[in-house]
Amino acid sequence: MSDKVYRASTTAPVNIAVVKYWGKRDAKLNLPTNSSLSVTLSQADLRTLTTASCSASFPASEGDALLLNGEPSDISGARTQACLRELRSRRAALEAADPSLPKLSTYPLRLVSENNFPTAAGLASSAAGFAALVRAIANLYELPASPSELSLIARQGSGSACRSLFGGYVAWRMGDKADGTDSMADQVAEASHWPDMRALVLVVSAAKKGVSSSSGMQQTVATSGLFRERIATVVPENMAIMEKAIAEKDFEKFAEVTMRDSNSFHATCADTYPPIFYMNDVSRAAIRAVEAINEKAGRTVAAYTFDAGPNAVIYYQEKDTEAVVGTFYHVLQGADIGGWKSADIKGLKPTIS
Ligand code: PMV
Repeated sequence: MSDKVYRASTTAPVNIAVVKYWGKRDAKLNLPTNSSLSVTLSQADLRTLTTASCSASFPASEGDALLLNGEPSDISGARTQACLRELRSRRAALEAADPSLPKLSTYPLRLVSENNFPTAAGLASSAAGFAALVRAIANLYELPASPSELSLIARQGSGSACRSLFGGYVAWRMGDKADGTDSMADQVAEASHWPDMRALVLVVSAAKKGVSSSSGMQQTVATSGLFRERIATVVPENMAIMEKAIAEKDFEKFAEVTMRDSNSFHATCADTYPPIFYMNDVSRAAIRAVEAINEKAGRTVAAYTFDAGPNAVIYYQEKDTEAVVGTFYHVLQGADIGGWKSADIKGLKPTIS
């Protein structure tokens, strides 16, 4: 038995949606009820680094294992298992076609992942995490897969992860096939297309979110009437306007759709029974602060968006850094802007990758 260890490393970035994925039409395959669109943040600021290794010499009794930020992490969940199964079966197909290849698909996997941002920051780290895990193993197995094909696999780990396989502006097309083979991501524009775009992450709370995105989605699909309207008309319209705004680098439109879509998503959460509230008083005050900044500037210079938690991501353009970041940093130092005075908020200033 060879004790050769095969190894591959990769990184994947965090993405923050401007048209939100919210709702599954098939929970097992992680198929969404609507398409979504996101902006990938710079890996220098927020990324997961994953190394995958395998060897015939790793004891089979130990099985596959993941070390996440130095701690053993459970990978027995259906989502992670679906990704591993899919990657292994693609490798097994290569091995069947070329018997000279080492049988990596039969070896136990050791995965080591690290985030360069505090996991406790309350940022959705699952997108970067699953994207890095899938690409690291695909590289280890030397699979001839494009980012879009890998997005099909990462999607089964965490829906939003399929968008983290690309930089810049990324769409996840919901597809209409029952087996999910057309539910994948593609790049709408490179980051360099709009070099002025910036993001500011305001960490309102580092606490783990109360209602997981999966159960929040399930409850929304089951009980919200507003949600039906959202997926039938609101999101398709937002996707079309957003893609045009990005193509034309029209920040006013980009910002309006970003804010409207975040509001629409959180409204459907409030419309579930019982209602789900991801934003808190500080989040709402951040919305008022953005409105105050835009009013003072006399045009839209900042756009807020919130995922399934209270933290705000503010999109703005480099030329408006002073008006936006300057204002928020004054707020962080205790000034009162738009009624927002919270002292315990941390700001992170990632660029777009
Ligand atoms: O990828 P998940 O299952 O964690 O869901 C993410 C949902 C949102 O972050 C709220 C929206 C999105 O499109 O990323």
